[in-house]
Amino acid sequence: MIRINENYGKLQSSYLFSEIAQRVNRFVDANPNKDIIRLGIGDVTRALPSACIRAFHEAVDELARDSTFRGYGPEQGYLFLREKIAHHDYMTRGADISPDEIFISDGSKGDTANIQELFSLDSRVAIPDPVYPVYLDTNVMAGRSGSFHNGRYEGIVYLDCTQDNGYIPAPPHDHLDLIYLCFPNNPTGATISSPLLKEWVDYAREHRALILYDAAYVAFIRDPDVPRSIYEIEGATEVAIEFRSFSKTAGFTGTRCAYTVIPKNVMAYDSTGKPHSVHDLWNRRQSTKFNGVSYPVQRAAEAIYSDEGRAQIVELTSYYLDNATLIRNELLAAGLACVGGIHSPYIWVKTGMDSWSFFDHLLEKAGVVCTPGSGFGRCGQGYVRISAFNSREQVKQAMKRISEVLLT
Ligand code: MLT
Repeated sequence: MIRINENYGKLQSSYLFSEIAQRVNRFVDANPNKDIIRLGIGDVTRALPSACIRAFHEAVDELARDSTFRGYGPEQGYLFLREKIAHHDYMTRGADISPDEIFISDGSKGDTANIQELFSLDSRVAIPDPVYPVYLDTNVMAGRSGSFHNGRYEGIVYLDCTQDNGYIPAPPHDHLDLIYLCFPNNPTGATISSPLLKEWVDYAREHRALILYDAAYVAFIRDPDVPRSIYEIEGATEVAIEFRSFSKTAGFTGTRCAYTVIPKNVMAYDSTGKPHSVHDLWNRRQSTKFNGVSYPVQRAAEAIYSDEGRAQIVELTSYYLDNATLIRNELLAAGLACVGGIHSPYIWVKTGMDSWSFFDHLLEKAGVVCTPGSGFGRCGQGYVRISAFNSREQVKQAMKRISEVLLT
């Protein structure tokens, strides 16, 4: 008799964004004439930058000729892309990262989900609350938690991110092994300052812990003093893995391309206390389980590092940031407290009612989809997240409808 992985039985019924999609689909089936505006899942709506499209086409043409055709690429990604990333995203900001410390992948969702495979099942795992649900769900699937009670899994250390701490958790006094951080934060939009990030790096060094730093939304930071990378913090190359994505930076949510940085100095320990290179473990994992991202996609990603591409992604992300400003201002004018939306495409809104009830209310009355805050963790109860990823016209229309619903 084949038996299931019973850890799956501990999970909440479905993945947050699948649950939202199901509810929206049911609503659309019941109300086929209702116009729905989607500000839920953070999925981009604008076209890929023209620099990427051109590179994409050229790479496809290369595949059309025997003389330039390419089959399997390196599992770690092509060097042409890894070199551009190391130079532009790290070296120019004083972070000492080399191309062979970068692994190209098909998305940070998969990488942040899979990285936990490398670490022992009895690791003490800390996860912010609220946060992107993939970190928690994948640790539950792997068996690092007990059962779910009162909105939380036993055995997981939750880092509360609330109005009181400005949505930025501080290191605890007791011991942790694996620490997930996400800045700019999904869902609250909070950014972390260098001194606060240094507290985490110092903590990790002292405890021989590892920080998993998700920087998927880094392209939305506009303040030069906000750190782009954890490797801008001294000592971080020994204790941190960083995840970055082209999804929100350059509109690659459907195209799929991201990367994970594992400096060669990052160590994890076996039961005798002997250090092992996490870079080597991930390389072993990737070469066994992954065959790389397609050549045209990597060429398209490379194009964002050209002068033209860099200007285009600033324009692209600024468009969504302008949407975010509009959303923030309209919600504040309608009397709702909110944060985020400044160095982030997400606005975190205090609703004064149960998150799912507010979600249903907006869907039914305004035809607008948001994301219930409680789906990101217990501290998200009473909040919703509104995404700025949509056209200006749709955002304006959504805000008009929301204001009408809230003010009547
Ligand atoms: C979100 O809406 O939180 C993101 O789009 C989800 C993701 O990037 O997988």
